[in-house]
Amino acid sequence: MSSTNAFVILAFSRHRTVGAILPSSRRLADAMARAAVGAQHLIELGAGTGAITAALCRCHPGVPILAVELETKLAQCLRERFPMIEVRAAAAHAVLREPHRGSVAAVLVSSLPFRSLPPRLRNRSSVAIERYLIERPASRLVQYTYLPREPFRLRFGESLRWRRLQSVWGNVPPAWIWELSSSHAESGGSRLPMAGNAK
Ligand SMILES: C[S@@+](CC[C@H](N)C(=O)[O-])C[C@H]1O[C@@H](n2cnc3c(N)ncnc32)[C@H](O)[C@@H]1O
Repeated sequence: MSSTNAFVILAFSRHRTVGAILPSSRRLADAMARAAVGAQHLIELGAGTGAITAALCRCHPGVPILAVELETKLAQCLRERFPMIEVRAAAAHAVLREPHRGSVAAVLVSSLPFRSLPPRLRNRSSVAIERYLIERPASRLVQYTYLPREPFRLRFGESLRWRRLQSVWGNVPPAWIWELSSSHAESGGSRLPMAGNAK
């Protein structure tokens, strides 16, 4: 079975964790990959069918990529399609808590559907991301949403801040790209050559 067919079936049977009925479009995938400009290490959270993984490989040749996907079937398809990257069938929070993960300026590129995730998984994921970024101030998160509002509420005060980078109208549904980084760090968005609207 192709990863797209597996995804569509899972979109109904696991709708809260999959959080979409279709894989990310090429426009969204390319915009997410461009937003990760300057990454020394890429960690993709919720890689699904690999639409964004493919864009990361195209846009960031030579940068080590770790793709994390909760669904074992999708993770297996990712391993077969991208033998050059590391793929983990695991929950994002479990991988982010591993102490050796990303000692360099890592960019977390996330498709995690925070608005639909079950509360326990949502809290674990958002707390793990916040802790990861606070412990590694040179790192940042790039995340998309299907609503023009922040992906999740921050728990740990003022040390991190959200910035909305770009709208992507050429996706079903339209998407907004966000960056979460240290309040003191230069925004990756300001390094983006094409920040704005992507049709
Ligand atoms: C919106 S879909 C991914 C879309 C992806 N960009 C694509 O084009 O296929 C979200 C994915 O995140 C995965 N997921 C949800 N919660 C997760 C978690 N806590 N850890 C890792 N993956 C997770 C789901 O299984 C699903 O494949």
